[in-house]
Amino acid sequence: MKKIGIIGCGNLGLALLKGFRKQYPNAQLFGTRRTIADLVDFGDDKTHFTSDNKEVIKQCDYLIIALKPYTILSFLKEHKDFFDVKRHTIISVATGITLDEIKTALEFTEVSLYRGMPNTAADVQESMTALTGLTDPLDRKQQVSELFHAIGDIVWIDEQLMESATILGACGIAYVLRFIRAMIQGGIEVGFDAKTANKIVSQTVKGAAQLLIQNGLHPEEEIDKVTTPKGCTIVGLNEMEHSGFSSALIKGIVTSYQKIER
Ligand SMILES: NC(=O)c1ccc[n+]([C@@H]2O[C@H](COP(=O)([O-])OP(=O)(O)OC[C@H]3O[C@@H](n4cnc5c(N)ncnc54)[C@H](OP(=O)(O)O)[C@@H]3O)[C@@H](O)[C@H]2O)c1
Repeated sequence: MKKIGIIGCGNLGLALLKGFRKQYPNAQLFGTRRTIADLVDFGDDKTHFTSDNKEVIKQCDYLIIALKPYTILSFLKEHKDFFDVKRHTIISVATGITLDEIKTALEFTEVSLYRGMPNTAADVQESMTALTGLTDPLDRKQQVSELFHAIGDIVWIDEQLMESATILGACGIAYVLRFIRAMIQGGIEVGFDAKTANKIVSQTVKGAAQLLIQNGLHPEEEIDKVTTPKGCTIVGLNEMEHSGFSSALIKGIVTSYQKIER
């Protein structure tokens, strides 16, 4: 089993580490951040937290760089001499930092280098990870696919779509959770306590997503099955649309995208 190191165990990095831990109980996993006191001990002897990035680079085969976008290039420049082009597969999950910028920072020409855009559902092995890479001289695309398959589903895309993937997949978690929160609030208004409403809504959202994932249909085909003519579903749906439901979501997604592109 190859060793996986995550540089920058913050919100995303830690979610990735937890997901890998579940999938690979016997793997040696390494995570870094400067204040490791903020990381909860996993209580096993195979998960190692340290602030020593150089040691983790030395120990690991897969290096996932989960630092904030504005720090990643200076980090790579500072640590370039510790990377081993033949051994390491490097995956950046930083938003907006291109493969070319990373290659330039590392000063490598032949390197197994990828960008990934997972989301925090990696924690429960339900991430949607968009992946992209240049031509890999070491031909490790399959291994990178397997690595991210371990924490959810994957899709390979052109690099120019990575920012769109950030919005739809990574920010998407927040949009869906806000939608769930609103449904829970509605559920409380019609009589449920918050805990029961949360349970009903969460499973309903999971079921709706599974209908699309497993049956491969367009959402409207499933909606048609629920909307009895003159029934209570269609009047509620239409009321939501009169209040700008779909429009608000689309506008929010486009606004997030414009912010990332700036
Ligand atoms: N959050 C998401 O849902 C998400 C989704 C997709 C992609 N991303 C991308 O993932 C990256 C991280 O995002 P995040 O939300 O997880 O941010 P975050 O919570 O701030 O995590 C970054 C972590 O890096 C650590 N760090 C900073 N400097 C370090 C250094 N020199 N060595 C080791 N660790 C260092 C920080 O901890 P210390 O201050 O203790 O060092 C922090 O825990 C970003 O580039 C973001 O674009 C995030």
